[in-house]
Amino acid sequence: MPAKPHRTIRLKDYKPASHEIDSVDLDINLEPEKTRVTARLKMRPNPARETLADKLVLVGQGLELVEVKLSGRKLGAKDYAVTADSLTIKAVPEKPFTLEITTICNPQANKALTGLYRSRDMYCTQCEAEGFRRITYYLDRPDVLSIFTTRIEADAEAAPVLLSNGNLVESGKVGKTGRHYAIWHDPFKKPSYLFAMVAGKLAHIRDTFKTMSGRKVELRIYVEPGKEDRCGWAMDSLKRSMAWDERRWGREYDLDIFMIVAVSDFNMGAMENKGLNVFNDKLVLASPETATDGNFESIEAVIGHEYFHNWTGNRITCRDWFQLCLKEGLTVFRDQEFTADERSGTVERIAAVRGLRAAQFPEDAGPLAHPVRPSSYIEINNFYTATVYQKGAEVCRMLQTTLGLDGFRKGMDLYFERHDGEATTVEKFVACFEDACGVDLKQFMLWYSQAGTPELVCSLRYDTKSQTAELTVEQSLSPSPGQPKKKPYQIPLRMGLIGSNGQDIELQLEDGSEPRDGVIELTRAREKIRFKNVPSKPVASLLRGFSAPVNLTFDQSVEDLEFLMVHDSDLYNRWQAAQTYATRVIINSMKSAKATTQPGLELAMALRHTVSDESLEPAYRAQFMSLPSEPDLARQIRSNVDPAAIHEARDRVLKVVGQELAELLQQLYERNRAKGTYSPDAANAGKRSLRAAALSLLVRRGLPADITLAAKHFGEARNMTDQLTGLGLLADIAGPERTRALAAFEKQWSGDLLVMDKWFAVQAMSDLPDTAEQVEALLRHPLFSLHNPNKVRALIGSFAQANQLNFNRPDGKGYQLVVSSIIELDGFNPQVAARMLGAFRSWQTLEPGRRKLASKALETVRSHPGLSRDAYEIVTKMIGSEE
Ligand code: PHE
Ligand code: ZN
Repeated sequence: MPAKPHRTIRLKDYKPASHEIDSVDLDINLEPEKTRVTARLKMRPNPARETLADKLVLVGQGLELVEVKLSGRKLGAKDYAVTADSLTIKAVPEKPFTLEITTICNPQANKALTGLYRSRDMYCTQCEAEGFRRITYYLDRPDVLSIFTTRIEADAEAAPVLLSNGNLVESGKVGKTGRHYAIWHDPFKKPSYLFAMVAGKLAHIRDTFKTMSGRKVELRIYVEPGKEDRCGWAMDSLKRSMAWDERRWGREYDLDIFMIVAVSDFNMGAMENKGLNVFNDKLVLASPETATDGNFESIEAVIGHEYFHNWTGNRITCRDWFQLCLKEGLTVFRDQEFTADERSGTVERIAAVRGLRAAQFPEDAGPLAHPVRPSSYIEINNFYTATVYQKGAEVCRMLQTTLGLDGFRKGMDLYFERHDGEATTVEKFVACFEDACGVDLKQFMLWYSQAGTPELVCSLRYDTKSQTAELTVEQSLSPSPGQPKKKPYQIPLRMGLIGSNGQDIELQLEDGSEPRDGVIELTRAREKIRFKNVPSKPVASLLRGFSAPVNLTFDQSVEDLEFLMVHDSDLYNRWQAAQTYATRVIINSMKSAKATTQPGLELAMALRHTVSDESLEPAYRAQFMSLPSEPDLARQIRSNVDPAAIHEARDRVLKVVGQELAELLQQLYERNRAKGTYSPDAANAGKRSLRAAALSLLVRRGLPADITLAAKHFGEARNMTDQLTGLGLLADIAGPERTRALAAFEKQWSGDLLVMDKWFAVQAMSDLPDTAEQVEALLRHPLFSLHNPNKVRALIGSFAQANQLNFNRPDGKGYQLVVSSIIELDGFNPQVAARMLGAFRSWQTLEPGRRKLASKALETVRSHPGLSRDAYEIVTKMIGSEE
């Protein structure tokens, strides 16, 4: 039975709301299964409305309506109409009025984790994008901004802490009922998606921050009692975020208190609710024993991200959900810049590009491709994507590259000045840069409307006689769903020409001008750029710092790549040269598996120089020796992908590299041992990552001594970073060491659910042949639960999205396993189920055997009765574009 079609929402159909809401008074009476909410809305017709305002349609879901009063008068059943997702008041006056609505909802039964729900014993809310309608009937859309006052009442023992947005204005007991209440008032207008409320048994840590204008802000992080000692890093990150936003962008915090609450059951990473951020606990809680360096880094980045939303998202919000990148792309860009400034710019850039290529490029190349600003959707929750977030951030970065740091800052200043307090659009955002810098960004706007990753094909010709170098660049863009034909982009191409002495040659264009910071602005489908006064044949370094989200094809010799790996002044491109080189070696070795020379010998030699260069940061050198992943290689191969063949070829090459560099790797491993107590800072983390990279290449050799070393690394670990490095390596090696390590880890950490997520993930990512069976067994492990999204991501997500080899097992076992879990999950948490389905986004690039099995698995999902709208949209797009 085919799932029923769902309504498509389109950007071009946007219309202003019929009414404005001047203020909202919420009265939330918490009971596990019957929470009573009264909303008093002061409303008036919207002057910008395009329709009559003689009736009012509010949205609501899963609500039991108790009573409606219009300007004090109780309405009878004839005065309104209720459907499964709306409440229509048939006649309202075309002047200001108040509406008082009382409803009941059931937080205990809410397993979708949107709206008001319970996480363990806590009450919490998640309203973005459309969760507020599960709390009360409302104009639940981002362009309706209002002032919220929230009264929360609950059992004083079950929920001693009551929190909402803004400032606490009153609290006290409710007679002798055993209940108590708190009233919060948020003086800033906000859309309903930024509303939050939390209640429960919570402990907190506190600190203060003095803003640049001298105001004192109270900072609090709330957690389950007993976890307070794991909040220090989050607090430290918060204070550094606040200071950085002032320093770098002149943005100051605006309320007297800023609160973060960590919850265990959360669909996403975190949420920027005004003054009351709600976080997935894995992005708050950290101690050296329980969190890895990577966890510490993500906590810093996400704390920053949500905090930065206060200006880019909350003070200035989105007019409609099509504008999501306006807040998300920009805020990711801001958090990336924060990480770059706090840590290392190059290492951050490499990480961001790895992430973009791993998550966004395949999205852009497959059936789920959509522009940074989509023009239609069925379920908005499906559009919190790598394209909106990461590519959206790249678009902001390109603006900064094109306009320069100062020009970009001027545009941002104007944006804050012009649009503070508004719900606005991408056009208005870009217009600020045009106005502040006096430039025309019409062509640039195509980055928001066209999907797909542009291909740049470059070639370089040198003419000795005239001493000129000529770069030819062609850009092209293949069709994507709904977009058969595309226009050329404006692309900032940062580049350099390097002389035989290894030094950059001053770039001089034909007209004598010098490109600023080495940036050439491409605007046409094909262009030639001529550089004069080039004394000898140069080596070109193109797309430095990955100045645009494109695929670059540039026919470079192995010698040129080796030269760049050693000499490029742009460290990002040195790393890129190594990646390109390694990719070439591995893919060539797939084509001729019986080649006489050992593939990887020259690669090892080429890597040696940089890896052993003590003047470079350890974290950078660790990145340098982390060779392309299996999905990286699959992306280069593009069609008829055989994941097993990729795995084998990569293994073969890495083994040779491990053997060739063994001595150096052993030295790195020994010399970078951390001294003293653990510190999560970038320098110390960098050393650990260098040791881990060295160890992981060494282990590739597969010698008994290597396995012993990995086991020793695990056994002697004094922090989670080292412990997990050891466990991850052993997880790929069948034998007693593996069994012992997994058992020891489980025994040590079975009381800590967050740490156990790592134990699930490590097994799901193993390349051993029975991994699918292991995952199947782990689904029945007593600590596993489909109701906890972190568990789902750790076990099913890691297997489907980070284990290319075993998810794509040739007998289809991987697909079946994932699909049956997704179907079960979709029954109560469609948002996470739909996200998991994304694992299939590249199924059409597989070789025919696997393609057929994947298609069958997707068909099983599509034909499942009662499929959610979320899963329906993803699965139909995924299958649909095959014709
Ligand atoms: N707005 C959140 C962020 O990126 C993401 C989010 C979306 C969280 C929807 C929950 C639900 O910061
Ligand atoms: Zn965000």
